[in-house]
Amino acid sequence: MAGAEGASATGGLMLPPGFSLRAHDEIDSTNEEARRLATGGAPHGTVVWARRQTAGRGRRGRSWVSEPGNLFVSFLLRPSKPASEAAQISFLSALAVGETLDRFRPAGSTLAYKWPNDVLLDGAKVSGILLESAGGGPTGLAWLVVGIGINLAHHPDDVERPAAHVGAGATPEAVLAVLAERLASWLARWECDGFGPARDVWLARAAGLGGPVTVRLANETIEGTFDGLGPDGTLSLILADGSRRAITAGDVFLPA
Ligand code: BTN
Repeated sequence: MAGAEGASATGGLMLPPGFSLRAHDEIDSTNEEARRLATGGAPHGTVVWARRQTAGRGRRGRSWVSEPGNLFVSFLLRPSKPASEAAQISFLSALAVGETLDRFRPAGSTLAYKWPNDVLLDGAKVSGILLESAGGGPTGLAWLVVGIGINLAHHPDDVERPAAHVGAGATPEAVLAVLAERLASWLARWECDGFGPARDVWLARAAGLGGPVTVRLANETIEGTFDGLGPDGTLSLILADGSRRAITAGDVFLPA
């Protein structure tokens, strides 16, 4: 449990060995709190969960709507692998979310992964993942925070990026228990077997694979065919002139 102020009842929530929970009714951002804890020396496996965030943040400087009923959680990791491989954890996290939601989503719904780490329910975004890190230490990575938001009870209206929620009575506590177990499992597999198995499982449910995509980068927008993932998780695009381009960061848009 977190300190008394803002601490939240956890309803007997059990996390896998090696994970310890700090629960809050309200916080600015679980990623921000995990960052504060990381710089204060908190160990690998610290999990920050809040029922509501007042300053939830998303990728590329966007905010993340954070009202009660949805899941907002951040995992503080101190990976033993080099910083160059840490981005692969975003795929492991997406797989953990996807496999968790397989247990909660409505029968007949479809689930897919959208590069780099979105999870789509019936084609609309149901979860977002934000990785933040700091360099240092023997691996070049002092800490990495995996922030995960899952729309369980409601979702924001967004025309450009349609969103969805799970519904069907999925509670944050129940979903977090499964999510932590799936993430622990994928992290252990990655430590032993590398990125290959995760890459294969991700690709098997990749949205838009083999089809046209638009990718918005910081200073340009490009169109191409989504040809797969590089061995390190980069997005592989085939452009109109037949050349191949590897994308390391950007926003992917699929045809409606
Ligand atoms: C995205 O833009 O797709 C990423 C959204 C990440 C939101 C989660 S909610 C828990 C954690 N705390 C934050 O402030 N952000 C992440």
